[in-house]
Amino acid sequence: MVEQAHDKAEGGMNPKIEALRAKRAESLAGGGAERVKRQHESGRNTARERLDILLDPGSFREIGGFVEHRSHNFGMDKHHHPGDSVVTGWGTIDGRLVYVYSQDFTVVGGSVSEAHAQKICKLLEMAMRNGAPVIGLNDSGGARIQEGVESLAGYADIFLRNTMASGVIPQLSAIMGPCAGGSVYSPALTDFIFMVKNTSYMFITGPEVVKQVTHEEVSFEDLGGASVHSAKSGVCHMVGENETETLLLLRQLLSYMPQNNMEDAPFVASTDDPLRADADLDTLVPDNPNKPYDIKEVVTRVVDRDTFFEIQPDYAANIVVGFARLGGHSVGVVANQPMVLAGVLDIQASEKAARFIRFCDCFNLPIVTFVDVPGYLPGTDQEHHGIITSGAKLLYAYCEATVPKLTVTTRKAYGGAYCVMSSKHIRSDLNLAWPTAEIAVMGGTRLRR
Ligand code: HXC
Repeated sequence: MVEQAHDKAEGGMNPKIEALRAKRAESLAGGGAERVKRQHESGRNTARERLDILLDPGSFREIGGFVEHRSHNFGMDKHHHPGDSVVTGWGTIDGRLVYVYSQDFTVVGGSVSEAHAQKICKLLEMAMRNGAPVIGLNDSGGARIQEGVESLAGYADIFLRNTMASGVIPQLSAIMGPCAGGSVYSPALTDFIFMVKNTSYMFITGPEVVKQVTHEEVSFEDLGGASVHSAKSGVCHMVGENETETLLLLRQLLSYMPQNNMEDAPFVASTDDPLRADADLDTLVPDNPNKPYDIKEVVTRVVDRDTFFEIQPDYAANIVVGFARLGGHSVGVVANQPMVLAGVLDIQASEKAARFIRFCDCFNLPIVTFVDVPGYLPGTDQEHHGIITSGAKLLYAYCEATVPKLTVTTRKAYGGAYCVMSSKHIRSDLNLAWPTAEIAVMGGTRLRR
């Protein structure tokens, strides 16, 4: 409107506004048609296409669209691009405000210049001030090499703000391409990391550097693909089959969370009668303490229908964590899984559950715990890798949590693991047990020996 009025007042084109329009068009075009084509050929969307999928239609409002990098080193004076290599702004998901940044790999490989970093810092500060989640779509080769220490400083500024925002607003990251260096440290400071199958990678240094330093030849996928980080390292929490599925999963996860640590998660009315009985639950849990069964079958029958959203399903599968709703209210679920390693607690399971419990405690999400645990995993491997410290982290997380805690022992709770798994001694609010459940210092079979 203002622009049109100006044009009219001048009796034609206003050169300043025309220049801005040209810059805007340049910004919208990313790194140019050739780079965009390459991005599409690699099975990836552009930064702006991703925002279109993630946000409610038409809700995105961009900020910093004319910011440019300030480096003149190594020919960078010829590489100016309005907005630099990241698109920042806010929009809505299911009508709720979110702050978003989306790195543009078509502009200098999405690398983080001082200006790029400042755009993200500004966004994080706005999100903290206004109490709304931040979502980062990462597609970046890390610190912009040409800017040297200026870009490292920019990253450190981001890391500090990620840390200050931790536990205040939810921070979600999606890895949408080959991400290296600082571009994986910043997501690692956030609450949940999503990856895309076959097109996204996370590593501190890429395969080329690994080859030079250790003479090890390794592919992108084997070094840091979604399969590695979802099953082996546990760095990644959710994997989507493709970019669209990944971004839709992000939207779904957000529906379980409040906007910030002062609010409650949205209530989503359920058609399930909260007092309904389920006869299958009488037979699902075997009486024999050594017979495996799938605890997820129990969880999905207890919570509101179709609301269980599992996190890290392929990592430390001997413990199950995820979000669900009970009577329309969002809750965090933690459950021992008798189908995997008999549901024993080991280093990985303890760390996975502890981190999840601390998130729930920060964001006012009650914790529902299903217990069927034979104890902590014995052996030199666990002892030498620090089961004492990791096990204590889980104990600490449960002890510290002040959100409502409900516990159901489905079959057995033995030894120290009984104390740890949200027992009533560590401030659980209500502890129920299956009619056939056992709570003991050790299993009956061991006592008989
Ligand atoms: C400047 C970069 C860049 C970077 C990529 N590019 N990363 N430019 N700084 N960090 C440029 C490339 O030169 C190239 O430009 C374009 O982006 C596309 O990159 P390609 O290599 O052609 O793409 P691809 O083969 O898909 O490989 C992607 C990649 C690789 C694996 C990310 O580019 C890579 O290894 N980059 C360097 C990664 C790295 O070492 N980062 C660490 C930075 S230090 P042209 O014009 O040639 O097409 C860091 C420390 C932070 O981040 C602090 C942590 C605590």
